[in-house]
Amino acid sequence: MMAKRIMQPKWRLGLSIALWLFSLHLICAHDVKSPTALSIKEDSEDHSKGEETLLEDEDSEDLEVFQPTDKWQTLKPGQAVPAGSHVRLNLQTGQREVKMGEEEGLKYWRDGNRQGMVNMQSPSFTAEELKEALKKFKEGMDDPVDTKQDEDAVRAQFRPIEELKKDMEALDMLVDTDVQVMRRLLNQFNNTNSTTEEKVTALLDLEYLVHQVDNAQNLVSMGGMQLVINALNSTDIRLQESAAFVLGSAVSSNPSVQVVVIEGGALQKLLTLLATQRPVTVKKKVLFAVASLLRHFPFAQSHFLKLGGVQVLSELFQTPGTESLRVRIITVLYDMIIEKELISQVGMDHIPDSSHQERLRQYAEVSLLPVLVEQGWCSLVPELLASPEHDYREKALRTLLAMMAQCQTHYKQNHALTASLSELQKQYQELVLTEQDVGEQDGYFGEILALVDSMVVKMQQV
Ligand SMILES: *[C@@H]1O[C@H](CO)[C@@H](O)[C@H](O)[C@H]1NC(C)=O
Ligand SMILES: *[C@@H]1O[C@H](CO)[C@@H](O)[C@H](O)[C@H]1NC(C)=O
Ligand SMILES: *[C@@H]1O[C@H](CO)[C@@H](O)[C@H](O)[C@H]1NC(C)=O
Repeated sequence: MMAKRIMQPKWRLGLSIALWLFSLHLICAHDVKSPTALSIKEDSEDHSKGEETLLEDEDSEDLEVFQPTDKWQTLKPGQAVPAGSHVRLNLQTGQREVKMGEEEGLKYWRDGNRQGMVNMQSPSFTAEELKEALKKFKEGMDDPVDTKQDEDAVRAQFRPIEELKKDMEALDMLVDTDVQVMRRLLNQFNNTNSTTEEKVTALLDLEYLVHQVDNAQNLVSMGGMQLVINALNSTDIRLQESAAFVLGSAVSSNPSVQVVVIEGGALQKLLTLLATQRPVTVKKKVLFAVASLLRHFPFAQSHFLKLGGVQVLSELFQTPGTESLRVRIITVLYDMIIEKELISQVGMDHIPDSSHQERLRQYAEVSLLPVLVEQGWCSLVPELLASPEHDYREKALRTLLAMMAQCQTHYKQNHALTASLSELQKQYQELVLTEQDVGEQDGYFGEILALVDSMVVKMQQV
């Protein structure tokens, strides 16, 4: 009796830990979702699709991708989740649920030459850690509950143990399933007997899986990430493209994987792909990977600058036939400018802790704006205003404004820019009227007009 009593707290603790795991973090993927307005979205594309036309402008929208909100929603079988989503198992229904990740809780660190960030808000567990926790929990559960009173107390707090056990088994299977599938796909990809077609299929299936934060981390621990990085410089462009796609999705909102991929030498290979002649479809995926790799990761951004990344993008921007890439390129640059700006603003009303100091130090090493000026971006960005797409113009305007301090003299001398701003002003003033006619006060055209007006005002300031 005495012994049993002594066992109780341990059992309870085990149960609480396991439940905490369950309710909060289980299979769960956490992470930062990029919040910037202009982030590049990469659509999952139809995997069975063969050749894409090189002039393709718009990525096809894949209806199978689930759009999470800030509430938990049930995931239907076969649906993919965008990178960085939280995924959990609902104990009541046995179904997987998804919600958006949040952007906070990144802790920046430095260790000798290594730098990076980890997510502190909600640790995600590898399949191994998870299994270990579940095993301990199961062992703990074999201790019989000896008094009715204790049982009731537990029952009141938690769900019946038999039910929980069933959930555990279901969960165990789910965890196993993704890891097993990834192992099979890696073997298919790594097998010298596989055809290129089979390898591409394996990569695209992996891409689907690595949207979940823990799957991407498992891919790393299985040695698969290095295989993917190596495929970036394979001789086949289809493998290059798919490898970049897997990489981009795996690092999206996944700080620990971002660190691994940078240390694995992927950035140099990605920039080589951008700097050499490749189909636009390949470059799109590569840009997606670069953008995801740089996001919230100042160490990667400094590295990008050192490797001449801005120059690579400038040349790509000016290459005929790559018009559809231009807005993506500008988005990468804009995101980096704004990210640094926001970080320094946070500093003002934030109680500085050591991670925040470290973060500021890391961002201080990223000196992007002077390089942009040097590489001619003060006059490259205005070119995008000639696009008929409202969306492209909006992004160009936001980027122009973000570079105002460094570019103002260039802008003033650019007569084409002055002319196109006054043309846009007229055009959007009319469009705003049509918006107001249908009762819309704060419409999209009004937003663009405000950006144009702001450009005009700020260009005149001394
Ligand atoms: C490749 O195929 C050959 C001949 O069919 C077979 O002997 C070999 O084991 C296969 N290799 C792998 C890695 O599967
Ligand atoms: C890929 O194959 C090589 C040789 O066939 C093997 O040594 C390596 O462990 C494999 N890698 C993975 C991640 O399966
Ligand atoms: C890819 O690059 C790595 C390291 O830069 C090199 O070892 C490897 O041989 C290259 N592979 C191909 C197919 O060029």
